[in-house]
Amino acid sequence: MSEFHSKIKTIEWHKTNQGGYSVMVDQTKIPYAYEKVEIKTLNSMYDAIKTMIVRGAPAIGIAGAHGCALFALELLSKYAPTEDLWQNNKTSANENLDENQKKSFFEELEEGLNYLNSSRPTAVNLSWAIGEQKKVIENSKTLTLKEVCANLINNAIRLENEDIEINKKIGDHGATIIPKGAGILTHCNAGALATVAYGTALGVVRSAFAKDNTIQVYADETRPRGQGAKITTFELVQDGIPTTLITDGMCSYFMRNKMIDVVVVGADRIAANGDTANKIGTSTVAIAAKYYNIPFYVAAPKSTIDLTIESGNDIIIELRDEEEVTMVNGKRICAEGVKIINPSFDVTDNALIAGIITEDGIFKPQELKSKLHKD
Ligand code: MRU
Repeated sequence: MSEFHSKIKTIEWHKTNQGGYSVMVDQTKIPYAYEKVEIKTLNSMYDAIKTMIVRGAPAIGIAGAHGCALFALELLSKYAPTEDLWQNNKTSANENLDENQKKSFFEELEEGLNYLNSSRPTAVNLSWAIGEQKKVIENSKTLTLKEVCANLINNAIRLENEDIEINKKIGDHGATIIPKGAGILTHCNAGALATVAYGTALGVVRSAFAKDNTIQVYADETRPRGQGAKITTFELVQDGIPTTLITDGMCSYFMRNKMIDVVVVGADRIAANGDTANKIGTSTVAIAAKYYNIPFYVAAPKSTIDLTIESGNDIIIELRDEEEVTMVNGKRICAEGVKIINPSFDVTDNALIAGIITEDGIFKPQELKSKLHKD
């Protein structure tokens, strides 16, 4: 087993004297190529998130944290260029900015962060991570701009490292609900490549497989973009975890034939009542699982839980380009003139969810509010 997850970091800050930049796996190329791209500006981070070079709620969150640091560095080079960000950090002697200039730095920074936050609307991890960076900015108002940048970079690296630890905890809690020799159905990609490493739903699979190598995964292909076919199979095959690719409409066939014992998926936003937005097609799987009495679990970090919204009715669902539906490998697969609606996510009602697997343990949807307190 190659343990792919332990070899990769989907997204990582690369430190340099000037501060550094973001390096990420280009997920639009998988499984054809495994390439990394360097992202050095706010605008290119916005595009990387929008075009799904980086995707998956936790990975998007880290991209957001990196984007904040990148934009602060861009502004630093405009307001107070520096040769070495890490030298003389404790003194403001190198910066002779008046109060108005400092005020404009922070105003521009805030505007850039809000722009970045609009790149994809559904995964709450993006606004959560940008919110974490906003707290750093708030606490750095009296520091030099160099120190603000250094703090934002260090905080982004902290969030990166924490993401891996959190996923391992989710995996270990989740492994306790996987029966021996289970067939596990998953949808989309909630793996190492949707996070910094290890994965959420696939973190559960990885931890379960480490204890019992007779489990098997059934991976939905996940139209329209095929994250299950392209990314989940890429990860699991490299880890030597037995995986069967199925098309999205097949799940009830496998459920009826008793090949699925449990469903584990990721999440993009979980409301206070446990309603869960995840990749389009997830709720269809949950409804079929309920019919066949198969437990349906959601694996997600607490940063995906949005206690500010009561139910899934308040979750904004991203609508994406028609071409994702009409085109396959650059070829149109349907009649010209047909109408297309392409919602990227759907909401699974809390009544269909057996449990939400977090780093703090497994909760019933209705327990979230009382059991989880967020800062
Ligand atoms: O549009 P995507 O590929 O970003 O959607 C990803 C999903 O829906 C994942 O299941 C979710 O983000 C959880 S990732 C750990």
